[in-house]
Amino acid sequence: MSNAASGIQQWAWVPKASEIAREAGARLREFFSQGVETEYKGDVDVVTIADRTVEKLIRTRLSEVFPEHGVYGEEGTRERLEGQFRWYVDPLDGTTNFAHGFPQFCVSMGLEQRPSSLKAEEDGTLVAGVIFDPLRDELFSAEKGKGAFLNGKPIRTSPISKLAEALLATGFPSRKRHASPNIHFYQEFTLRSHGVRRAGSAALDLAYVAAGRLEGFWEFNLNPWDTAAGILLVEEAGGRVTDFEGRRYRIDSREILGSNGSIHQELLALFADMFAGRGLSPIPTPAEWAAQREAAAAAKD
Ligand code: IPD
Ligand code: CA
Ligand code: CA
Repeated sequence: MSNAASGIQQWAWVPKASEIAREAGARLREFFSQGVETEYKGDVDVVTIADRTVEKLIRTRLSEVFPEHGVYGEEGTRERLEGQFRWYVDPLDGTTNFAHGFPQFCVSMGLEQRPSSLKAEEDGTLVAGVIFDPLRDELFSAEKGKGAFLNGKPIRTSPISKLAEALLATGFPSRKRHASPNIHFYQEFTLRSHGVRRAGSAALDLAYVAAGRLEGFWEFNLNPWDTAAGILLVEEAGGRVTDFEGRRYRIDSREILGSNGSIHQELLALFADMFAGRGLSPIPTPAEWAAQREAAAAAKD
């Protein structure tokens, strides 16, 4: 498709962000082929020199092309967060895969627009997102109101309308895995669908929902750098993103459910049944988990 036909020439942020994501991805590919040493951020939470170097590269490039934009990155970048625009950056989504030589990881950059009247705890609007898989040379991109694209070609979510015919994905936290209820959901969704993939990159999982390769994705306890770009991709490709109770997704929600839209109600109904323990053992809801965490923290003080 020509640039004129796809409307790319009218895009405000995606062309420059795509260049940055491609440069960052090329660096990741180099590190990946050389092999890198792994350090630990927590018990099992790994980080490599690639994560840090590539975040620095993205931060520098963003400040060159969008000098007024803020940057909020997984590896610690917090710059110009008072401004009207803020990039959520995951320089390497899928670090555990990367560190093991498992070829599934990406760069993810999502842009939020925050009018100056907004309070710190309020959400702005996601206006652009770019996710780049350097090993497959796949660049997923979206801008609000302009659709979602894979390497410049429009993408749409899948037309499948039944959970029983759906392929899903999820992920598990690297830290405090024992505190996550997700294994129960993994089992129930596996039994009711074509299967649940756990490929290790939440951003790519969301991009795959947008591209119609998966019908749905959920995860507990994600961060805005994992999800910002992917949320916009799913929505712009015709899908839906909420929390587990069907409320509009918030950038700091942590629990995310993205789908092609057609199976969303069925997914929500299963979440509701499982949290209520209908025919199953009751599982604490995210709010109940949060209350338990707070109580445990208070008990420590
Ligand atoms: C992780 C990946 C993984 C998800 C984890 C994330 P990272 O991000 O997205 O798929 O299951 O919850 O933390 O640490 O590789 O950037
Ligand atoms: Ca991540
Ligand atoms: Ca990361």
